[in-house]
Amino acid sequence: MSKTVSLLLVGCATCLLLAIAAVAVATGAAMAPADRVELKLGHSLDQNHPVHLAMEFMKERLAEKSSGTMILEIRPNGQLGAETECLSLVQRGVLAMTKTSAAPLENFVPEMAVFGIPFLFEDEAHFWRVLHSDLGNDLLEAGADSGLRGLSYYDAGARSFYTISRPIMTPEDLKGLLIRVQESPTSIAMIESLGGSPTPVDFGDLYTALQQGVVDGAENNPPSFYTNRHYEVCKHLSLDQHTRTPDVLIISQRWWQRLTPQQQQWLAEAAQESAEYERKLWQEKTQEALAGAEERGVTIHHPDLEPFRQSVSSMVESYAGTPTGDLIEKIQAMGGEQ
Ligand code: GCU
Repeated sequence: MSKTVSLLLVGCATCLLLAIAAVAVATGAAMAPADRVELKLGHSLDQNHPVHLAMEFMKERLAEKSSGTMILEIRPNGQLGAETECLSLVQRGVLAMTKTSAAPLENFVPEMAVFGIPFLFEDEAHFWRVLHSDLGNDLLEAGADSGLRGLSYYDAGARSFYTISRPIMTPEDLKGLLIRVQESPTSIAMIESLGGSPTPVDFGDLYTALQQGVVDGAENNPPSFYTNRHYEVCKHLSLDQHTRTPDVLIISQRWWQRLTPQQQQWLAEAAQESAEYERKLWQEKTQEALAGAEERGVTIHHPDLEPFRQSVSSMVESYAGTPTGDLIEKIQAMGGEQ
């Protein structure tokens, strides 16, 4: 081969590589040979949060299973956008994966609204029975047709109110208060039915919103309240445990379809193991969060739940005859079992 021809060939190969790189960047895909996959995952939680720790565990398990050919790059703290933005990026395949609460997911997968129904689950056992049932699996897969494939649920405990100036002991205490909610119609409806004024704010902006008095309080699980240091502003945590809204690990359906069956299996297994790991960690981290918050001056209140249940009963009844109402009935029917 003449020197000119071989130089031309080298030149063409370089062009081809550049072209592949350009396509990869445009689609958000990692530059990699076909058997090597890099998956970027964006989420809103802090690095000390149990759900983040569980995703780090998933990253390790995935690398082990795939002999280092499947790499998960986790970007916490809303670096890639708030939850709704991440869901939209994942839906379009610009971002490979995300982990969000089921609450904003209801804007993309309407079935998820059921997890925003207050006092739906009798207890933790009822919650897990539902999540691990066919119904739980169907809900996880319900978003696949719209581009968002659920891989697993993470425990996100129970959500309770925390406030700056006065504790929430009854629904009347919410009157006149601006309460931050997630971007979710069901969360908005719940706060309205309890008598508060719902104010959607991205989780990443909440600390500042509380500090500046844009909102008077919020509601979340203890690890999120603690790891995002909301206790520095809110000195009252009222454990009314109004909702059990799980977190959901999601992969873009486009990315999922690009994986080989073997890669899909490794990822599904690593996600499952990560969920089991997180569930064990959750109790410990919840206790740590409650104790840590108390040490830092937070008073933990245990209100009577009955007035809260009564206040939301008409909201819950308003779903009768709707698809969410049907799901509520199915979930209620799974209560009280052993
Ligand atoms: C929970 C959940 C987060 C979510 C947050 C919120 O902490 O784990 O994914 O961002 O609630 O209230 O926005």
